[in-house]
Amino acid sequence: MPSQSIILFMTDRKSIIAPSVLAADFSDIGKALKLVESAGAEWVHLDVMDGCFVPPITFGAQMAAAIRSGTDLPLDTHLMTANPGKHLEAFMKAGVDRFTFHIEAEIHAHRLIGEIHKSGAKAGIAIVPSTPVSLISELLGYIDQVLVMTVNPGWGGQSMIMSTLNKVRTLNEMRKAGAGEYKICIDGGFTGYTAQETWDAGVDAAVMGSAFFNAKNPADALRECRPR
Ligand code: DX5
Ligand code: ZN
Repeated sequence: MPSQSIILFMTDRKSIIAPSVLAADFSDIGKALKLVESAGAEWVHLDVMDGCFVPPITFGAQMAAAIRSGTDLPLDTHLMTANPGKHLEAFMKAGVDRFTFHIEAEIHAHRLIGEIHKSGAKAGIAIVPSTPVSLISELLGYIDQVLVMTVNPGWGGQSMIMSTLNKVRTLNEMRKAGAGEYKICIDGGFTGYTAQETWDAGVDAAVMGSAFFNAKNPADALRECRPR
């Protein structure tokens, strides 16, 4: 029989869920943030799209500042933009906590990671489904999180590409072998159907867009997505 402490350990696994405001009602962002807080989410995810790196345009630092004034939760910012470094200062002024950029958009990633840290934020690198983990292996020792895109970036409400979880497994093995102390995050298609497989692959933080904001009861939907 497992002891009580082992049972607690088994059922109390830490997980971070970051609702993405991309799926929220932009006409009442304050209400959306209250919903995120009352549901017990750990982070708020901001999807910044520039119409260049990905086709849609969402919002910029001004909106991030408005979101900052509506919540004390950590703001996890996902830059789907060309030249991400160009936007760092504005987003730092807006008060974001975590700044993740795409490796596919930045040649001088090592330099940008240093700049993000110098400005006081946590640094993350995102990879699209077709980008292998090997492309960022030299950077794993410098970053705070890797964002494995489990859909092609640009839109909410897509189905998770399950094979991308192999990259999560690889990153987990590499971390165990001492490659770095990064969190492993996933983004796209996280729902009650895919959550458990996601956590089992070794994910620390999951972005939850439409499955949260489109749910009848977002707090229940979030609870159902916690690791079992
Ligand atoms: C997609 C965005 C995601 C999106 C996820 O490009 O990066 O953060 O909001 O939305 P769902 O959870 O609906 O797939
Ligand atoms: Zn995102």
